[in-house]
Amino acid sequence: MDIKKLRDEALKELLGAKNLEELEKLEIKYLGRKGALTEVLKQLKELSSEIRVQVGAAANQLKHELASTIERRKKEIKAVLQDSKEWVDISAPGHKLAKGHLNPRTLILRRVEEIFQSLGFSVIDSTEMDTDYYNFQALNFPKDHPARDMQDTFYINEEVLMRTQTSPSQVRFMEKHNPPLRVIVPGKVFRRDASDATHESQFYQVEGLMVDKNISVANFKAVIAEFFKRLFGKEVKMRLRPSYFPFTEPSFEPDISCTFCDGKGCKICKNTGWLEMAGAGMVHPFVFKSAGYSPYEWQGFAFGFGLDRLVMMKYKINDMRLLNFGDLRFLKQF
Ligand code: PHE
Repeated sequence: MDIKKLRDEALKELLGAKNLEELEKLEIKYLGRKGALTEVLKQLKELSSEIRVQVGAAANQLKHELASTIERRKKEIKAVLQDSKEWVDISAPGHKLAKGHLNPRTLILRRVEEIFQSLGFSVIDSTEMDTDYYNFQALNFPKDHPARDMQDTFYINEEVLMRTQTSPSQVRFMEKHNPPLRVIVPGKVFRRDASDATHESQFYQVEGLMVDKNISVANFKAVIAEFFKRLFGKEVKMRLRPSYFPFTEPSFEPDISCTFCDGKGCKICKNTGWLEMAGAGMVHPFVFKSAGYSPYEWQGFAFGFGLDRLVMMKYKINDMRLLNFGDLRFLKQF
């Protein structure tokens, strides 16, 4: 029984093993129940006692050496496999891919667009940088009109500004399209407001415009009530509060009964039971004239609401700035 020969042979094979399977086969071949070394140990009893002690000690030492070599080789092979890109361990637990989230404002805007589209409105885009003419003059805000102060403006130069409202899209659209028409115009608007929980210098509005023959306030009420009903998923009480805008006459602001307390009065609605939702009114004849429409032939309604406010109400978010910060702890909740 040549233990030395067995050792040389075993070590050579173990060091040459290229993968875990080969290694396991060798483990069985040498250390298994019927393995070569086990056979040696079994045969010990046939030897004379002197030789038995020597051979036994050598065989046991070899057993330990082979076992530790096998362990070492296993670790080496695993390390190589982990480093190589081709290794796919199909038994490893999977990692869930991190999916991005839509901003809640995008979610609501999509819903708003969907609702108006189903009511026959087209969704159109307009320019964020505009002229004093479209943002003010064409909408019946002459130079030095006090109502300009309602909207603190970022001016680029004397003529060019960042739009303070989406309303300039009314004239821009009507200049290029003939009535009848139904459009909504979502987009960013800009005002020189200090940023706080309910104000940002950049926010979103959705403008609406419907022009046809014989359009009245009743049409406006029907459209806007249907919109709120679908958006909030239930009948909401609405009232039109008289208001003033230079480009609508009459002007009003639709309020809806507070969606938080169902009109009973709470912190959100400042105990009035009502939430201000939009500015609106019947298109002023001056605006039709700016766009080249005859005010004797056409009537229409227009409205503009703050999208951010709607999002805050729908999701009960108490700080508008959260919508802009890109904080994943916030965004991942939607
Ligand atoms: N543009 C107005 C605002 O920003 C809202 C409005 C739009 C009012 C359309 C009437 C008609 O306050």
